[in-house]
Amino acid sequence: MPPAEQPPGSEPALRIFAMPKDSNANGDVFGGWVMANMDLAGAVPAVVRAGGRIATVAVNGMRFHQPISVGDLVTCYAEITATGKTSITVLVETWAKRRLTSDQVKVTEGTFVYVAIDKNGVKRTLPPSA
Ligand SMILES: CC(C)(COP(=O)(O)OP(=O)(O)OC[C@H]1O[C@@H](n2cnc3c(N)ncnc32)[C@H](O)[C@@H]1OP(=O)(O)O)[C@@H](O)C(=O)NCCC(=O)NCCS
Repeated sequence: MPPAEQPPGSEPALRIFAMPKDSNANGDVFGGWVMANMDLAGAVPAVVRAGGRIATVAVNGMRFHQPISVGDLVTCYAEITATGKTSITVLVETWAKRRLTSDQVKVTEGTFVYVAIDKNGVKRTLPPSA
């Protein structure tokens, strides 16, 4: 059997418990809750890279591999994979630590694209990378 996939070694961008209010009647967490938290997680490196305000312009390739259950500890990892003139592309992986075990599984992944904006909400050129 191949070795189980491991979470990224990088520092998580966000950790949160899935609570009953986040779930549907089956006890599985709403996909919209997962996406909202992934958007927040992806914004962490994007804000730093943009040196200020950003807006989400696109979400691409969302894949829900496995459900998240109430009580799971949800961890999002976010890594910048590309930058353009105004945009920052971030791969976000979401892992769940199941409530009564130590198992960690990748539950969701997607690519979030952010655009650097000014105080009027108009796109602006990214500053040079540090
Ligand atoms: C974000 C916003 C300011 C961008 O302005 P715009 O004039 O539409 O920008 P553009 O079409 O020129 O695209 C800007 C960048 O995003 C990229 N982009 C746009 N749509 C994209 C998509 N579907 N996938 C990947 N990248 C995309 C462009 O390639 C461009 O990148 P680059 O400058 O690095 O080459 C504007 O679309 C906006 O305000 N959207 C609403 C944002 C929002 O409310 N988000 C939700 C809450 S944060």
